[in-house]
Amino acid sequence: MKTNHNLTQLWKAGRCHAARLAYRLGLSDKYCFPPYFLWGTGTSAYQVEGAHDQDGKGESIWDRFCRSPGNIKNGDTGNIACDQYHRFAQDMELCRRLNLGAYRFSIAWPRVQPLGRGALNEKGMSYYDRLIDELLALGIEPVITLYHWDLPQALQDDLGGFAHRDTVQHFADYTEAMVHRYSDRVKFWTTLNEPWCSSFLGHQTGYHAPGIKDPLIAAQVAHNLLLCHGAGTIAARAAARQKLDLGIVLNLTISEALNPADAHLADKAFARDCGFYLEPLLRGKYSQAALAGIKDFKEQDLRLINQPMDYLGINYYARSLVSSTGKTHPVPGAEYTQMGWEVHPQALRRLLNRIRKDYPEVPPLYVTENGAAYEDLVTQAGRINDTKRLEYLRRHIEQVALAIEDGVDVRGYFAWSLLDNFEWAEGYDRRFGIVHVDFATQERRIKDSGLWYAETARSNKIVLPRNL
Ligand code: FCB
Repeated sequence: MKTNHNLTQLWKAGRCHAARLAYRLGLSDKYCFPPYFLWGTGTSAYQVEGAHDQDGKGESIWDRFCRSPGNIKNGDTGNIACDQYHRFAQDMELCRRLNLGAYRFSIAWPRVQPLGRGALNEKGMSYYDRLIDELLALGIEPVITLYHWDLPQALQDDLGGFAHRDTVQHFADYTEAMVHRYSDRVKFWTTLNEPWCSSFLGHQTGYHAPGIKDPLIAAQVAHNLLLCHGAGTIAARAAARQKLDLGIVLNLTISEALNPADAHLADKAFARDCGFYLEPLLRGKYSQAALAGIKDFKEQDLRLINQPMDYLGINYYARSLVSSTGKTHPVPGAEYTQMGWEVHPQALRRLLNRIRKDYPEVPPLYVTENGAAYEDLVTQAGRINDTKRLEYLRRHIEQVALAIEDGVDVRGYFAWSLLDNFEWAEGYDRRFGIVHVDFATQERRIKDSGLWYAETARSNKIVLPRNL
């Protein structure tokens, strides 16, 4: 049996190799991925669940932030969002139709532990039981993020949220409870999603909840979030009911210079920005500059942060540009998405390679988010011809394939997002879904990008759109 299996794998690998070569030579329109490659999509609780005050859910910092006029475009809120709390079965059925191997979602901490410490809310807990069971019944791997930005407001009010060290212990306790409950069925766990955003958008620019504008607090939060990752990892491993795949998701950008004379600046920016996370996580170190910003720091903190990880998730949307004149925008001839983010697929390959080169000890990588916001029009026939989004995804996936060929160990790709949803401060004005949501009726419709992605996931190959 085993030999047969190996032979089949070898045969598949050989065929894939030939197909890749043909693609590179322009003789074919298919590009194979390794047989273990995981295709998924992602969402986060606050962006899709709705039911903001139902079944005992506590208030989150996003519930509060959205209520303050001026914080969110058009005064939108996540109160209803995509109503996934009530429609999860339908959404998981969509995942099945999209041939997904995995669905990445987050647990709303205040739904399962309304005050962020103390009593758990059984009604909230059982919601995720049902969601997980539904996914497993459809043969889809659940990938849980423990924290995707919706801190219980009570922890913010009582302690100052992540600015206070005690929140680290509360996060570890919450993690332990979740892993204890769900890890009999869920293997893939992420401690934090994009801690850079929680820290700096939440506490320096005030663009995100909790809307604080204080660089000193932001730096402390950044450090404390890394402590949460470390303490959460230890708690998760202790409570695990099976061997977990445990990691963190970072928005690492590759900095590049438009003018070759500024290349050294780009290099420095990469080392500073990515290094701020990768040095402590992978090497137990901070640069002098990073350390200087952190007021409450203890020597043993670095040992806590530096836990073994099973994978690193990378969210990539655009590269970041540096220049000695400070002017980087707009890039002549460049395309931009509706977010104003430059479309630059090749930089994703460079980023993946750069991480491997600078951090050879890095665990296997997953692209945990990648996608684009564009305005979508529903045709009279009820189709959404979102060619730009489809092309965005295809061109980025192509770069992932090339990075794998370069030798980078990338194990999966998650399109952001399954559904159009609540895009934080931009409200419902920015659509990232490969499935369209009519927010007035909650009707879902798979866009052309979704149809194409389904075919890619099914065949484990990049397929040019005309083959649909
Ligand atoms: C990322 C977030 C995700 C989504 C995308 C567009 O920074 O993790 O929730 O908003 O951006």
